[in-house]
Amino acid sequence: MLSTEIAATVKKENQINYTTFEWKNGRRLANDQDVAYILPSDQTEVDRLQLNHNLWKLFKSPIHNKLVKGIRVLDIGCGPGWWTLDMARLYPNSQFIGVDMADVFVTENKPSNVEFRLLNAGTSLDIFEDESFDFVFQRFLVMGFSTDQYIQSVQQMKRILKPDGAIEILELVNEYGHAGPAFKNINQWINEALVARGMDSFIADKISGYLQDAKFKNIQDINYDVPIGAWGGQAGELFLAIQKMALPAVKVMVTELTKVTDEEYEENLKEAYEEVEKYQVSTRFRLIYASK
Ligand SMILES: C[S@@+](CC[C@H](N)C(=O)[O-])C[C@H]1O[C@@H](n2cnc3c(N)ncnc32)[C@H](O)[C@@H]1O
Repeated sequence: MLSTEIAATVKKENQINYTTFEWKNGRRLANDQDVAYILPSDQTEVDRLQLNHNLWKLFKSPIHNKLVKGIRVLDIGCGPGWWTLDMARLYPNSQFIGVDMADVFVTENKPSNVEFRLLNAGTSLDIFEDESFDFVFQRFLVMGFSTDQYIQSVQQMKRILKPDGAIEILELVNEYGHAGPAFKNINQWINEALVARGMDSFIADKISGYLQDAKFKNIQDINYDVPIGAWGGQAGELFLAIQKMALPAVKVMVTELTKVTDEEYEENLKEAYEEVEKYQVSTRFRLIYASK
């Protein structure tokens, strides 16, 4: 549950800045010049992220044995912490830290090997010491980090990883595949909103290049095309349910940052849901993992 309207953003251990939030059209959004994020930070979004978490395997990096023995793991932009919590239960000898700028952490029955910390990861990853983690994980920050923050985050991940440590990033490409006219509108509107905040719809396609620039080794880059709708079987049905929560969630900032009106957006949304089967709409993801 949300404990407060104000989330702490730690610059140094003893100096805390706060990310402020405001309610707009029934959704709670960050209102802070250092935060680019355009999705809400509220209970409905916590529930959507739980569904979204169920769509994915936990990790691909070859670190199962190390996790069993016990290592230190950082989850950047962990949100409610669905990944962190599952990993911590699976690997009780390892220590997990999840950081997020929003206080949406799920703390009920939190295992003792999990620590959640409020932190603006776009500006303040420097609080972590060099070579202090064995595994760093980051998932779905395309709507959260500006391009500069994304690149800096990769560099910080390199710095805080121990030699031979593992990095893994799962990211969405913000362009629906096989889009009909309504999904083409959505592609364009979300892209405009992201550009207005200095973000890049196609950052996923650039991550392995950022890892190369940062001199990571053994870089693997996997593409996934995830179907939306019954045409894609069980995964497609689940992803449609997720989209039915994500598209209303992103509406508040899209209508604020572009010329699209609420009515236009809503009308278009109805058409979009009709399109998923007809056009076999999908979303592309990229999973990039490597070692230091
Ligand atoms: C789409 S959610 C993904 C959450 C989680 N990684 C997952 O896969 O379930 C993006 C998360 O990034 C967080 N976020 C966005 N900008 C951030 C920033 N500058 N610093 C820390 N967290 C941020 C949001 O609060 C949100 O929890």
